[in-house]
Amino acid sequence: MKKNLKWYTLIAISLVLLIALVFFYTTDIAKNLINDGLRNEETLNNNQLETGNKLPIPTLLEDKDPAAGRAEFDLNVQYGETEFITGYKADTLGYNGNYLGPVIRVNKGDEVKINVNNSLEESTTVHWHGLEVDAVMDGGPHQVILPNTVWNPHFIIDQPAATLWYHPHLMHKTGEQVYKGLAGLFYIEDENSAKLDIPKDYGVNDVPIVVQDKRFSSDGKIPFLLNMNDLMNGFIGDTVIVNGAINPVLDVKNEVVRLRLLNGSNARTYNFNFSDDNDFYQIASDGGFLEASVKLNNVSLAPAERAEILLDLSKYSVNDTVILRDGNYNLITIKITKESNIKVFIPNKLVDIADYNQDEVVGSRAFVMSGMGPMVTINGKQMDMDRIDEKLKINELEEWIVSNENMGMGMMGMMNSTPHPFHVHGVQFRIIERDGKTPPLNEQGWKDTVLVDNGEEVKILVKFRKIGLFMYHCHILEHEDSGMMGQFLVDNWEKWFL
Ligand code: C2O
Ligand code: CU
Ligand code: CU
Repeated sequence: MKKNLKWYTLIAISLVLLIALVFFYTTDIAKNLINDGLRNEETLNNNQLETGNKLPIPTLLEDKDPAAGRAEFDLNVQYGETEFITGYKADTLGYNGNYLGPVIRVNKGDEVKINVNNSLEESTTVHWHGLEVDAVMDGGPHQVILPNTVWNPHFIIDQPAATLWYHPHLMHKTGEQVYKGLAGLFYIEDENSAKLDIPKDYGVNDVPIVVQDKRFSSDGKIPFLLNMNDLMNGFIGDTVIVNGAINPVLDVKNEVVRLRLLNGSNARTYNFNFSDDNDFYQIASDGGFLEASVKLNNVSLAPAERAEILLDLSKYSVNDTVILRDGNYNLITIKITKESNIKVFIPNKLVDIADYNQDEVVGSRAFVMSGMGPMVTINGKQMDMDRIDEKLKINELEEWIVSNENMGMGMMGMMNSTPHPFHVHGVQFRIIERDGKTPPLNEQGWKDTVLVDNGEEVKILVKFRKIGLFMYHCHILEHEDSGMMGQFLVDNWEKWFL
């Protein structure tokens, strides 16, 4: 009798243990713990996720106004579902779709109207990153679009051809809303871009490329959960997606291909390069064409930065592949599927950019980025929507000195601060010095975001042509959301004399 009881008891205990074990290993907590363990050894796992997906090409948003010189667009901010990993659906956000947004394409001089409908149950804003428009049209944290309401910004396109973008800018929520999918490209074309002999066939040899990193849960979702490291340096995912796809394939001909690269990530900086040690030519930076194309082997883009590049594929034949990579990690497989009959041409001269006359600088301002984690500051302050940090005048040339205070031997020991991408609204600026030296050629054109490495000092020249209350901030979205942002008011004093 006693012997039998012991036997049953053992079985029962084993069963309970087994059930507990199975239960533990099937919960998300356990899976995440296990995944996190794996991720420590390799932060990016793209090369193991060969999906064979075609690179999604965002639609070109339809212009509802047929008149020349005018354009009208509808944008709907909506909930979506996206199958990043086959068989698993993730809750996402998108403009006019499940994830990301359509490409808005306008011409210089156009009178543009946009109807933004927010069908979310939370507020949002739509900021036109890089666009030079008055602050009330800028879509910053003050232009809140409440749930189920419509915002109708309108403006005249008053700057040269460029690859810009749009994304939310709600206080404390930018990181999450962008992460879930709210981002789209905004192209400006002009007479110069029309006459340049460069690839212009949208989605065929002129390809939009939005690069972002995600951290997938075991069920293929993208919950926005910040760990300790994310709080310090911004959200860093383990998988990079391009236009919403993991390791996609882009079919092209063996000709010159133009890629319009946007780093649409919350915090990760990429170092783009190609397999076979291919050189390429950068033709545009954030705010438009460079004066001349710049031959490069790799290009780094911090969050929000853009680069347009030309890649000559003429030495390849049908079925050959070239990989666009970040460091050693594969981002896109570019596959030659057809012979081209277009003659290869890489223009040297692209545009004339008039240099600012430094004698016209009326004054200098310093922007010191410092602090760590949620305590990041600019000039020792965190964002206050009711405080104006800087006041300046329209059409005056100023020199801004942007620095990243090296933490050095801080209270936490050998702590270096994160490199911060400094972004200014309502303007395209010029970088004149990086740590006392002339910036590299591909940073000598128009810029709206500049990465300032730890301990570094960057001098930029700014001249505002639009008025109102604008933002400057770090474009690591977790830093921005923590308050690493300030406001400046551009006033039009001239109006009193006109
Ligand atoms: Cu890309 Cu303040 O924004
Ligand atoms: Cu911006
Ligand atoms: Cu930062």
